[in-house]
Amino acid sequence: MATMDQKTNHKFELASRPVGMARRENWKYAEAPVPSPADGEFLVKIVYISLDPAMRGWMNEGRSYVPPVQIGDVMRALALGRVIESKNPKFAVGDYVTGAFGVQEYAVSNGAMVNKVPDIGIPLPVFLGTLGMTGMTAYFGLLEVGKPKAGDTVVVSGAAGATGGVVGQIAKIKGCRTVGIAGGAAKCEYIVKELGYDVAIDYKSEDVRKALQTTCPKGIDVFFDNVGGEILDAALAQLALRARVVICGAISQYNNTTPIKGPSNYLSLLVNRASMTGMIVFDWVDRYGEAAREMAGWVAQGKLHGLCDIHEGLHNYPEVFEKLFKGENRGKLVLKVCEEN
Ligand SMILES: NC(=O)c1ccc[n+]([C@@H]2O[C@H](COP(=O)([O-])OP(=O)(O)OC[C@H]3O[C@@H](n4cnc5c(N)ncnc54)[C@H](OP(=O)(O)O)[C@@H]3O)[C@@H](O)[C@H]2O)c1
Repeated sequence: MATMDQKTNHKFELASRPVGMARRENWKYAEAPVPSPADGEFLVKIVYISLDPAMRGWMNEGRSYVPPVQIGDVMRALALGRVIESKNPKFAVGDYVTGAFGVQEYAVSNGAMVNKVPDIGIPLPVFLGTLGMTGMTAYFGLLEVGKPKAGDTVVVSGAAGATGGVVGQIAKIKGCRTVGIAGGAAKCEYIVKELGYDVAIDYKSEDVRKALQTTCPKGIDVFFDNVGGEILDAALAQLALRARVVICGAISQYNNTTPIKGPSNYLSLLVNRASMTGMIVFDWVDRYGEAAREMAGWVAQGKLHGLCDIHEGLHNYPEVFEKLFKGENRGKLVLKVCEEN
């Protein structure tokens, strides 16, 4: 772990573009002197790094919603850290901040796209999860794209994850009936008992299409999809009239070495006058504050749980990152790099 007087910055740089699952050899564990901030900049000592499935996509060549990470660059990642040196009047030493600081121990920033973490008694890692990017994704994806109404049946894939776990809880707050799809009996029990889902479907042991027929006899009003592939197809087959399908992610397809599996049941959209809409959370960046205030209120009232799955040690980054694709995380997967203060 890093210490205050450390003069070396350890980091993971992209070494090669993965084929299939990203492995340790796709990164180089490198070190360099801790950078110094210039005028207008500040130095952040990173405490927690957010591990997100999207990082797998950023390792690929080609056009996406953000440019790919270049070979030799520090691996892009959202992170939370403490300002330890500042030449920027808007950021003081001691401030906790979130931003795209990368998989490393220290980062210099000019403050662009950096948010201060308010001191409101909520644990810091929650600002990378429920009150961070995945929470914003859940909030805007569900409320602005899914547009649930009280009494609707909302089905969520990846229901035990950082995004899906929050989607289910917000849907309950909004008076919906919730059905979560997750992998394994233990996760299914967890999403019902801890996250308040009404019903769980274990996609590893059940026929999802049949289970959706049983659990959603009147059809699915909102399907919030984090997984894609066969689970998306199964949900399309069970849509209600004027259903809204939110395409948030497709983690089952991110490590494909063969072409992505598209939905074959898409004519269900036509028959049911339904919509299927892709969403990228960054489109709502101007409204993050509004969402964070409302969700912080729900956290304070005990209606929304800030679930984090924290692992330690920067050097463990490649193996901890793999957990997302092996289903080994519950809630927001976070890597702790050093102590909070
Ligand atoms: N559009 C946006 O702006 C945006 C923003 C954030 C996240 N996302 C997307 O949201 C999704 C969830 O991200 P997250 O950060 O919240 O991750 P997460 O759900 O916390 O973790 C990933 C989970 O996906 C499940 N999974 C992995 N491989 C799978 C497979 N082959 N089939 C079915 N399920 C699989 C695993 O749960 P099980 O054990 O249940 O299989 C795993 O725990 C991802 O697709 C991500 O790209 C999109």
